[in-house]
Amino acid sequence: MSESLRFEVFTSEGSPAAAALPGDGELDALAGEALVARGALLERRCAGADFLGWLDLPLAAEDWIEDVLSLSLDLVAEVDHLVVAGIGGSYLGARAVLKALSAPGPRGGRVVLDQAGWEPVGPEIHFAGHDLSGAALDDLLRRLHGNTFAVNVISKSGTTLETAAAFRVLREELVKRHGTEADDYIIATTDPDRGALRAMARARGWRSFPIPPDVGGRFSVLSPVGLVPLAAAGLDVTALLDGARSMRERFLAEPESPVAAAAQLLADPVLHYAALRQHLRRSGKAVEVLACFEPALAALGDWWAQLFGESEGKGGQGLFPARVAYTTDLHSLGQYLQDGPRHLFETFLHVEHPAPGPILAAGGGERDGLDNLAGMNLAEINRAAERGTMTAHDAGGVPVLRVSVARADESGLGELIWFFEAACAVSALMQGVNPFDQPGVEAYKAEMRRLLER
Ligand code: PA5
Repeated sequence: MSESLRFEVFTSEGSPAAAALPGDGELDALAGEALVARGALLERRCAGADFLGWLDLPLAAEDWIEDVLSLSLDLVAEVDHLVVAGIGGSYLGARAVLKALSAPGPRGGRVVLDQAGWEPVGPEIHFAGHDLSGAALDDLLRRLHGNTFAVNVISKSGTTLETAAAFRVLREELVKRHGTEADDYIIATTDPDRGALRAMARARGWRSFPIPPDVGGRFSVLSPVGLVPLAAAGLDVTALLDGARSMRERFLAEPESPVAAAAQLLADPVLHYAALRQHLRRSGKAVEVLACFEPALAALGDWWAQLFGESEGKGGQGLFPARVAYTTDLHSLGQYLQDGPRHLFETFLHVEHPAPGPILAAGGGERDGLDNLAGMNLAEINRAAERGTMTAHDAGGVPVLRVSVARADESGLGELIWFFEAACAVSALMQGVNPFDQPGVEAYKAEMRRLLER
């Protein structure tokens, strides 16, 4: 079992940011609360207890993994492109993992280096149905022109406007190309029994996968919602599930002999991170900034922002989840982070063994000021930037936390996904809200429906 994920508090006693961290007495109380939330979650008696299927997805995936892998092989033979139509929890997870793992290749799918050179594996994946932009859909249709494609439409409810509209357009395009055989190019991922999409899939005989009824959208990446597109892209979804399973086992493990609540908290990255988030929120912080130094992980930040934003932003409370990609954003938001209002804290997403990248050659006398770096690879320079940023922000009064994985590979991403999901659930329960509903997102839909009425 790989156990690479670690959670640490970088801010230490005596640093300007330390005042926001819990003292010993406060840590005991927080640990007690976090353990109560963990118990309520595992005993399935918390708010939203009907939506705890995600806890077991790394194991439940056995029910459909063979079908997912077999579909991925079929798709390699059938099409050059796969359009994934979905929004929110129905696409952000797959996009996050795909962006983190795909090297840029001729077809955009994953590329592997073998003796023959770089080879694409699986169809190129596109995401649609996550906005209502005509220009974006036009652009996608242009890119599909002259190429074969299939559509994986993903919607638990089956009635989400953005997804349904894009799917209608793409389906029309398939009908134009294939007539009655268009149905062979559609894969539906939706509720196993209910909803408009399930009814259409049954009526038209589409290949289909279930979204477990007890798994909400933003907790669904390890279900067929994420696994179908990721397997189609040629990623190792088994390793992704293994990483998630190892994180789940760590969270479920009980101490062998009784330990103080605070010690249990400090030994458990999920509880520790969740408790600190809530402590920082209660002590006046309003924003959590997720920072990473690998641009490929920026999309994981998008997934993380939805997970925490939709789960905790309720009843006038909740940390605003902001994400930054460094060092790029140090040249746009760095000033604010270092010197703006101290209403935020920062969580660094750290990869212990990133790709080393090219080595800087000696300069031959150029005056670019880089001669002292000659012989270093980019990862070493990036590491110094990361360490320097953490130290500077901490000194500027920003509490700094860090979540690390050994590698940003399938296994490491699986660990991160399950870690953030569990931490989000514990943290929201400590905040006193149901982590699994999203009553607030209905308001814009009602207004939009009113304006579109004819
Ligand atoms: O997390 C959620 O539940 C939401 O983000 C949904 O995933 C999103 O609204 C899409 O819903 P659906 O899958 O029903 O189309």
